Amino acid sequence: MRIEQNYSLLKHNTFGLNVKTGYFVEYDNEADLQRLLRDEYFFSQQFWHIGQGSNLLFLGDFDGVIVHSAIRGIEKVEETEDFVWLKAGAGMDWDSFVDHCVQNGWGGLENLSLIPGEVGASAVQNIGAYGAEAADCIEEVHAYFIETGEKRIFSKTECKYAYRFSFFKQPENRGKYYITHVVYKLSKHPELRLDYGNIRECIGAGAATLETVRAAVISIRKAKLPDPAETGNAGSFFVNPYINKEYYENLKKRYPDMPHYPVDEKMVKVPAAWLIDRCGLKGKTKGGAAVHEKQSLVIINRGNASGKDIADLAAEICRIVKKKFAVELQPEVNYI
Ligand code: EPU
Repeated sequence: MRIEQNYSLLKHNTFGLNVKTGYFVEYDNEADLQRLLRDEYFFSQQFWHIGQGSNLLFLGDFDGVIVHSAIRGIEKVEETEDFVWLKAGAGMDWDSFVDHCVQNGWGGLENLSLIPGEVGASAVQNIGAYGAEAADCIEEVHAYFIETGEKRIFSKTECKYAYRFSFFKQPENRGKYYITHVVYKLSKHPELRLDYGNIRECIGAGAATLETVRAAVISIRKAKLPDPAETGNAGSFFVNPYINKEYYENLKKRYPDMPHYPVDEKMVKVPAAWLIDRCGLKGKTKGGAAVHEKQSLVIINRGNASGKDIADLAAEICRIVKKKFAVELQPEVNYI
């Protein structure tokens, strides 16, 4: 177990904010985690578990304990003629996991290539992109309930997955479970999903395979989304809002080109990026924070942003979008 005191989180948040935490604790295995969950000093502090920090906004220094999992590695737990079940450590880099699956010819996660973050967070956030989401392939989530230190294995149904949502994101469960492993079920005869955006076009005349889909997704993401290693950002800052159908029909009369995705009989999802773009907010700045020029759903750190600059810009975006469209945007990024 690694324990650091008065520790900079610069390398642990993709916004690139140089904030500090009183303590940083990184556990390597379940025994270490169990030890941490029996520690009275730990529970006397405020604490928060992070992944790669690719979906976090630190508003300032953290006076408490930041916890991180270093449980990595992949174990094949079952295999049939058609499928393989892989148990991956929560602290494993997400894209390395996707790469491992693609290299072995196991399909299901290739459209989620290059998403920043770790395996544990993929199961909390239900990460999604290009017509796929993590929940499509999740079979089980192994987690500890921190109040009692008990281990619990969640079936996919118990995880209550929906668009960018899970049991672990429900307000009453938020921050109460530490995930150690996620079991993914991958297909040996995958059906490739090529119809979202320009994946097919990007593959061109060549054969569509797991490798070429992965390469296409990587090149599309690289063209649109800033690389956090160069420009601080947390990917999509807001989730795409759901609005009721009647209100959508109303808006559509005024904005016939507004994209939308049907959700059910009552609700429609509209892209937050389009709403923000239509308010003319691309490139808008606040202190060191700015709306990304190529994807208006992304807020970037121009180099010297504080957490407050980013939060202030996000609040202003919400205000302006609400005024123009009467639609409320919700951050996908977690504020700490
Ligand atoms: N659009 C604009 N202006 C922009 C960008 C997009 O008008 O600056 C419009 C596009 O024309 C399009 C629509 O908005 O009709 C949707 O855009 P896009 O397909 O780029 O996807 P998104 O809804 O903005 C979601 C995910 C992304 C994921 C992409 C691709 C959420 C919150 N975001 O974005 O996830 O990569 O789809 O599948 O659902 C992330 O979470 O960090 C992330 C990048």
